[in-house]
Amino acid sequence: MPVFNEIKPTELSENVFSEIGNRWMLLTAYDPANGRVNAMTASWGGMGVLWNRPVLFAFVRPQRYTYGLLNHSDVCSACFLEDGHRPALQICGTKSGRDTDKIAESGLTPVELDGVWGFAEAIRVMKLKKLFVADMEKDHFIDPTLLKNYSAEDYHRVFVYEIETVYEKE
Ligand SMILES: Cc1cc2nc3c(=O)[nH]c(=O)nc-3n(C[C@H](O)[C@H](O)[C@H](O)COP(=O)(O)O)c2cc1C
Repeated sequence: MPVFNEIKPTELSENVFSEIGNRWMLLTAYDPANGRVNAMTASWGGMGVLWNRPVLFAFVRPQRYTYGLLNHSDVCSACFLEDGHRPALQICGTKSGRDTDKIAESGLTPVELDGVWGFAEAIRVMKLKKLFVADMEKDHFIDPTLLKNYSAEDYHRVFVYEIETVYEKE
């Protein structure tokens, strides 16, 4: 079991754009229905300050199995993997926890950190507490060219989480 040290969100030194957009993150939640940890690759989202709190926001389409898990739990984690785990991220970004144990398939090692699940292969795990959700609506798009992302009208739900704890691998 690797050692993870707690740091404050303000001590993060990485570039948010490249961490989320290029490294990608795993939205990770426990699935009580089958007793498994599930993780979904996400490369859309952000971090910042809202209501004077450090927040991470994620955008999840309704057909994702993760969508139900996030709706049913007030906590989850965002995991950022060390370099060299692209295949695992591809599996978690193309297969669904609805019908596969993708964590077993990806070879990732779940580790529990203060009530949420992360992975031994992570460089960073953020413990997240749900604060707010909102659904995107077609009428709210100012730039209509963005609607090409929604041919199935599967508008994202925005999940805003407080970043409660950041665990950095030693
Ligand atoms: C690089 C990458 C980024 C992705 N980003 C998102 C995202 O931000 N939001 C989303 O809803 N799906 C995203 N996906 C798709 C989900 O990861 C994918 O549908 C996954 O299989 C859902 O798993 P689940 O059904 O177990 O939740 C992304 C996929 C990849 C490969």
